[in-house]
Amino acid sequence: MTIIDDVKQRADIISVIGQYASLAKAGRNMRALCPFHTEKTPSFFVYPEQQSWHCFGACNTGGDVFSFVMKKENVDFAGALRLLAEKVGVTITSRVERDPERDKKERLHRINEAAAKYFHTQFLSSPAAEKAGQYIGKRGVSPDTITRFHLGFSPDSWEGLKQHLSEIGYAENELLDAGLVIAGDDGKTHDRFRGRLMFPIADDRGHTIGFGARVLDDSLPKYVNSPQSPVFDKSGSLYGLNLAAPAIRQQDAAVIVEGYMDVIIAHQYGFANVVASMGTAITDKQVNLLKRLSRNLALALDSDAAGEEAMLRCVAYENLLDSELKVVLLPKGKDPDEVIKEDSGTWLRLIGQARPVLDYTFDMVSAGLDMTSARGKSAAADRLLPLVAEIKDVVRRGHYLLKLASLVGVNARSLEAEARKTKSGQGKRAHAQESPPKGRRSVLSNPREEYCLALLLRYPELRAQGESLLPEYFAGSENREIFLALMQSNDVASLKEKLDESMCEHVDVIAGRNIPPTQIEQKYCDCVLRLKEAFLRSLAEKRAEILALEKETGGRAAEAAKEQEYGLEIKEKLQEVFAPRPQRR
Ligand code: UTP
Ligand code: MN
Repeated sequence: MTIIDDVKQRADIISVIGQYASLAKAGRNMRALCPFHTEKTPSFFVYPEQQSWHCFGACNTGGDVFSFVMKKENVDFAGALRLLAEKVGVTITSRVERDPERDKKERLHRINEAAAKYFHTQFLSSPAAEKAGQYIGKRGVSPDTITRFHLGFSPDSWEGLKQHLSEIGYAENELLDAGLVIAGDDGKTHDRFRGRLMFPIADDRGHTIGFGARVLDDSLPKYVNSPQSPVFDKSGSLYGLNLAAPAIRQQDAAVIVEGYMDVIIAHQYGFANVVASMGTAITDKQVNLLKRLSRNLALALDSDAAGEEAMLRCVAYENLLDSELKVVLLPKGKDPDEVIKEDSGTWLRLIGQARPVLDYTFDMVSAGLDMTSARGKSAAADRLLPLVAEIKDVVRRGHYLLKLASLVGVNARSLEAEARKTKSGQGKRAHAQESPPKGRRSVLSNPREEYCLALLLRYPELRAQGESLLPEYFAGSENREIFLALMQSNDVASLKEKLDESMCEHVDVIAGRNIPPTQIEQKYCDCVLRLKEAFLRSLAEKRAEILALEKETGGRAAEAAKEQEYGLEIKEKLQEVFAPRPQRR
């Protein structure tokens, strides 16, 4: 979650605005005398569901919690973010208070990035890398994919990288810290990765944090990885996450596979919501990384390896996830990489057939037992009941209690009593996770706004296109802010320079969106119209609610008439948006 999302989620608009205006209930919404201008009848409304506000009086404007604070405190977006962050207890490290720990990390990111660049250049242009090119071709990886994943080759020498990095200004101890060189017994250092295919590993924000390195033949060890460092924690990272994040958000689903190659091939074939746990069982850190993007997670497991061990931890993860975890069962001995290359339809089918991990566990446990015997039944209950007892969600727990009851032929109520005993016996296993406040529409991430910004960022020439895009079409203040800055910058770097540091994360999310370069103009025009439509609609909705309220409470006719007039204007504008246009789908 970006800092912006975090603050947005915690800063409830009612309590924030309530500090500046005395809000009174008005149907589902709240109204007050406008805090921005003097008036006798309240024309200022707050909409808790949309987490927005609007003044229908002299201001005739509105926005979200950020724009309210910006206007009221006369600060820019970053200023409002800081004020609100402080109120809700989110820490923002500011540009001025430099944190030495963070400086070190940044340096490690940069050195890893320099190494990735070196390996990639070697791969593309060194004659010694020819066999790496051949190997990668044999594995069916396309040139586009090589670029996208920044694949590389580490020359079979002891000092190639070391020399290069020291030439461009990195000290030996930094190379050691990053794990790019190793010290031998004599204290002399040499390159860790030699003669291997290099997979740069990025964190969720796209910083290079380490490497996976594969041999080009059958020799061992097949893979060597960067060691643990202040920036690299293999079991807390997911390979491909930075590239997969937009698709995971968009599809609201992620698939977790094991290996580098599996991710690369999946993406190449258009399955962009795939990430890899890098060979080990998934960890709670990895689940947490994904949970911010989607709660629908599926684990692709080899049907051989899909042992109980893998399944047993599922319940803890499901509780952490606040949702069930699914399993995609792969054909015996086949990796996703092979399945997809053979027939991507098979992959789609397997994903479609994903089942909740607990259902598999049930099957697996009962398959190993004689379920007609008392002994088998009791063994099954012993294994499964503790798992079921741990499920936090009442409905899901009930579902599996019933399932277990019918499996072992005992009535569910006595199982439940037994479950309670098991559970209290285990003591508290706290996975305390706060969930977002209920009962409001999601105000986090606005995909259409982000898409529009991504288009503009990627194709600056669109700015001159057709329908004019107005800042107020963006409901999210952060997006509005980015839009305004974008109009004066040509690339991500100069955009970031114009914005406060606290927004960079959000810019990265936007810049990371993958947009196929076809029919860009039309996509853009369409997107602008949709934004305009959403803007007008939301305005019309708000207005309609107020009108209804006025009627109920016998509100003053003059006021109502004025609003009606205004309503008409919106209707006309909406009609313009919907007027048949050439070229639209
Ligand atoms: P495998 O060793 O099962 O890969 O490791 P594989 O599918 O046979 O190898 P490919 O397809 O020929 O490349 C699976 C994944 O586990 C991680 C890597 O991410 C690898 O892709 N792994 C494995 C490591 O990171 N380090 C290791 O030492 C081994
Ligand atoms: Mn493989």
